[in-house]
Amino acid sequence: MFENKKILITGGTGSLGTALTTRLLTTDVDTIRIFSRDELKQSQMESRFNDERLRFLIGDVRDKERLEKAVEDVNIVIHTAALKQVPVIEYNPFEAIKTNVQGAQNLVEACLNKDVEFALAIGTDKAVSPFNTYGATKLLMERLFVSANYYKGYHKTKFACVRYGNVLGSRGSIIPKFIEQIMSGNKITITDPNMTRFSITMDQALDLIFRVIKNAVGGDVHIPKLDAYRVGDIKDVLLDLMDSKNEEERIPVRIGEKHHEILINVHEIRNTYENQDNDYVIYENQLAKDQSKNIPNAKKTTLTAEYSSDKVKITSKEELKEILSKQNFIPKNF
Ligand SMILES: NC(=O)c1ccc[n+]([C@@H]2O[C@H](COP(=O)([O-])OP(=O)(O)OC[C@H]3O[C@@H](n4cnc5c(N)ncnc54)[C@H](OP(=O)(O)O)[C@@H]3O)[C@@H](O)[C@H]2O)c1
Repeated sequence: MFENKKILITGGTGSLGTALTTRLLTTDVDTIRIFSRDELKQSQMESRFNDERLRFLIGDVRDKERLEKAVEDVNIVIHTAALKQVPVIEYNPFEAIKTNVQGAQNLVEACLNKDVEFALAIGTDKAVSPFNTYGATKLLMERLFVSANYYKGYHKTKFACVRYGNVLGSRGSIIPKFIEQIMSGNKITITDPNMTRFSITMDQALDLIFRVIKNAVGGDVHIPKLDAYRVGDIKDVLLDLMDSKNEEERIPVRIGEKHHEILINVHEIRNTYENQDNDYVIYENQLAKDQSKNIPNAKKTTLTAEYSSDKVKITSKEELKEILSKQNFIPKNF
């Protein structure tokens, strides 16, 4: 699938970018360009991977000229670069607009100008009926990718998105935070143990991305079918796995924090399909010039209500224990 393909990963030094690189290097990919701002993360990644198929480009998605150079001769772009820490973004909202919105449009234009074959953006459940600035910027990122597909004229780029929930153990998420609190002997801070979140492992996210690179038609948003977990269960299971008894401290709900996340809202259901891989696909063919175009091998969804993390199967503590044990999140020397 990747023979002779050159791939650009914006945000290639992040949690997802690194995992994508690891998986892509097991294929027959020709070259992977890593695009991000911080030289230290890049040089650490370069020595860790030590693979001549990797190229490291310092750049900022806010800089369109630099992006145009970065996408030259590239076949596939995977757009992971983003600001994503909800509280940080509430304090610096316009910085998130510059990176997540303006940066996405810069990339769309660079891909069109250089006729990249396919560009995929990584979306989030927080973009659905958004309740914070991060979610709103990621909603706009999705819209910019979807709409580009319809106004692109003679340009060949197909634009698509994936959308999923919290990646277990990713940078800045609750698992590394709880582990750090447990290791340092501090209280575990928690807003409401009954909050639920859609759960996806990095491997599941990579599987989805690879499926979409293969199947996307352009203008489509792909959403996996996921289980959810209770935030309090993650805390209990980590305490158990780390054989610790840290106290718990209740803290106020953060700005823009929802009790439950939504992956598909009620308005999107009318454009939602289920494809041969059992993923949901949102495809708005009202936007397309050719309105007969549809997702191949897909059926209209049977969903009748919003797809929300409190309405799907909740992973039991036993199952969570098994999942977390396999992920090696807990340092061996603890
Ligand atoms: N983690 C999750 O649970 C989750 C869930 C759903 C969706 N997502 C989405 O998945 C994507 C990847 O998430 P992640 O967890 O891998 O994030 P991450 O670990 O924070 O990585 C973000 C990457 O983006 C780069 N970056 C940030 N600002 C940039 C800019 N202006 N120009 C170029 N590069 C920039 C960062 O490197 P520098 O700082 O060096 O530039 C880093 O390489 C994001 O779009 C996020 O919204 C994440």
